[in-house]
Amino acid sequence: MTQGRPGGGGAWAPLWERDAELAAAERAMSALCSDLTTEGGLLVYSGEAGIGKTALLSEVRRIAQGRATVLAARGGETVTEVPFNVVRQLLQPVLVQLSPEEGREYLGDWYEIAGPALGITDPGSGRPDPQAVCDGLVDVVARLSRLHWPLVLIVDDAHWADQETLRWLAAFTERLHDLPALVVVAHRPGEATGEGARHLARIGATALPTTMLRALTPDATAGLTRATLGEHADAPFCREVWAVTGGNPYESVELLAKVQDSELEPVESSAAELRDLNRSARGRGLVARLEDLGTNVTRFAWAAAILGPAVSVELAASLAGMPHDDAERCAERLRAARIVTSGEDGLEFVHPLITTAVYESIPNATRTAMHGRAAWAVTRSGRGAAAASRHLLEVHPDDDPELVQHLRDAATEHLAVGAPDAARRCLERALREPPRPDVHARVLYELGCATLLTSPVTTVGHLREALSMAGLSQ
Ligand SMILES: Nc1ncnc2c1ncn2[C@@H]1O[C@H](COP(=O)(O)OP(=O)(O)O)[C@@H](O)[C@H]1O
Ligand SMILES: [Mg+2]
Repeated sequence: MTQGRPGGGGAWAPLWERDAELAAAERAMSALCSDLTTEGGLLVYSGEAGIGKTALLSEVRRIAQGRATVLAARGGETVTEVPFNVVRQLLQPVLVQLSPEEGREYLGDWYEIAGPALGITDPGSGRPDPQAVCDGLVDVVARLSRLHWPLVLIVDDAHWADQETLRWLAAFTERLHDLPALVVVAHRPGEATGEGARHLARIGATALPTTMLRALTPDATAGLTRATLGEHADAPFCREVWAVTGGNPYESVELLAKVQDSELEPVESSAAELRDLNRSARGRGLVARLEDLGTNVTRFAWAAAILGPAVSVELAASLAGMPHDDAERCAERLRAARIVTSGEDGLEFVHPLITTAVYESIPNATRTAMHGRAAWAVTRSGRGAAAASRHLLEVHPDDDPELVQHLRDAATEHLAVGAPDAARRCLERALREPPRPDVHARVLYELGCATLLTSPVTTVGHLREALSMAGLSQ
């Protein structure tokens, strides 16, 4: 057992059965700190939801703290399609400190190409080639790793990182043999899709071997049970905790918290109740628990799930259509029910499994309508069409010319930062609206331009169709 894991709510709690992983991280850290000319390192942890990836990354972070500059970011299920989201998050702490002049100096020749992707400079009118942007980002972070040596980059939930970030990360990790940085990645196996999955596989191949995190053994589960409930938890009870949770740490921790809440005696005669208690930790059980908190709280949680991963109470309140005080009360009840917690960036769900369960529980029509309202709220807040586009993509087609225009604007922004795939998604969605006849050919033409680099054959098809329609000359 390893002592000293920062647990939920800032308390320190032990991390069970991760000694080998932590020893490897310690070795990688010592190697990184030995001298500036050292090779970098790559650690990849893989495992199902709740197996303890985030907890392990927190420990790695703790090992690195005070010895290295640590930058951390994570993917999110609802923001997978936001280009450069994770790499921006990762580098933000360094980038926000720079004035425009310093930024120019920092990024050197790559300023015009990588600057817009990182969000530190306005895009020009050009459409940078994604490969050039990727090369630029690799170079910029390589420079960063020398300037801020020793540098540790941590990416959690990489299966949900945007494909633009993963493309960069794959290329960057392949350069680690001559870069003094330690990259630590955690992901769920088999969860990434499309291009992202391909890049993640490249990262896995570079890491060799990746570490598969294992469920806790019955002994460790018993240790965790007794550490939480007291030494008087008897062996059959502890064994049943393991049987019910399969040694999954998330399920075990949640189940034990519920045992505490219900003041169940941790002895053999209560063991039969564990299975029922466990049902409320995820899926339908969790949704039922949320519904028990009332319609206001549920609506507030829906708004947070739509806007997340992290959200301010104000924004969630405005989407849920409730006064700030009511929203604060809802947030408080969700905190007490261990559904949300206050993180660095605002209110967050305690675990992505909860986010998924809450998001999926929103009735379809309500979810679509809320995404529509979220898009306008994000646009109104001045964050640009690209930031709103992830919501617009979820709205049902409804012959709305304004929506088509917003999606075209978003596509233009995506193209200008070097994310043609994101532009393609916006324009394909705009076509489904469908656009009014007078702009239909233009949308097809823009789509043709967006796919030019990635899929020339598709481009020819779109351009042919556009040419066969009226309206391109406008
Ligand atoms: N080895 C461990 N020992 C004890 N508790 C753990 C361990 N690993 C994770 N946990 C706890 O289990 C819960 C889920 O872990 P988390 O790291 O969020 O899983 P993942 O990121 O793989 O979904 C958290 O409350 C975490 O503190
Ligand atoms: Mg996690």
